[in-house]
Amino acid sequence: MSTSNNLKKVTVPSLTKMKEKGEQIAVLTAYDYLMANMLDEAGIDVILVGDSLGMVVLGFDSTIPVTMDMMLHHVAAAKRGIKRALLVADMPFLSYQISVEKAIENAGRFLQEAGAEAVKLEGGEIVAKTIEKIVKLGIPVMGHIGLTPQSINQFGSYGVVGKQKKIAQQLIKDAQILEDSGAFSIVLEKVPSDLAKEISEKIKIPTIGIGAGKYCDGQVLVSHDMLGIYDKFNPKFVRRYAELGKEIRSAFSNYIKDVKNNKFPAENESY
Ligand code: KIV
Repeated sequence: MSTSNNLKKVTVPSLTKMKEKGEQIAVLTAYDYLMANMLDEAGIDVILVGDSLGMVVLGFDSTIPVTMDMMLHHVAAAKRGIKRALLVADMPFLSYQISVEKAIENAGRFLQEAGAEAVKLEGGEIVAKTIEKIVKLGIPVMGHIGLTPQSINQFGSYGVVGKQKKIAQQLIKDAQILEDSGAFSIVLEKVPSDLAKEISEKIKIPTIGIGAGKYCDGQVLVSHDMLGIYDKFNPKFVRRYAELGKEIRSAFSNYIKDVKNNKFPAENESY
């Protein structure tokens, strides 16, 4: 169902209200004008230009090689397709960890140069001071805890995080600290469902789950995963809403066959 006629702009305060009213928040990623425009017209609440860009668009093995310049280019493209959704830009590896000053400067670039309305950064307690400073300057921040892909070399795998009591307790503490630092929402990635429920009940800001079960205040998926375009990664939390990868491959091979067999273009496709 298209909700494009519901053109009320989604803002940071409107997401807080959605949690208060128990209304689920729908988030998906986009990296270009066309996909952002289709998502916006379908009625998505938040569009995240994730650093998953590195894997699903740029062909890297992880999100680590993604730079500010790459992100700015894609956030600006997505911006041109959006009227209603809130646009969140993912801060890439090393764009916010080196110093608070550097983090502020880079977060500001996303708003000033690319039109983002908020930024997302990975980590709990360790990035709290940075988040506090960025938020105080008027830049809304979305947190991201649990599996944080920029730390893949430390985790060793993309497995579930928070099964052990000590880690679960740290994640609860991280969520509360992020809320106290002024984050407007927190992505919970690949944490057990009951832990996500506990965190979502303990904090007032919305939690957005990815592989974190049904008790979060909203859900996010990487669009290329749920559309079946990126098939190198198929965890059970990704529900495939389409198999576009197969469709696209078959369209490409049919075109090649037609050209080779002189079946394209036909008379009515010529001038
Ligand atoms: O980079 C990304 O797309 C993300 C989402 C998966 C939350 O961080």
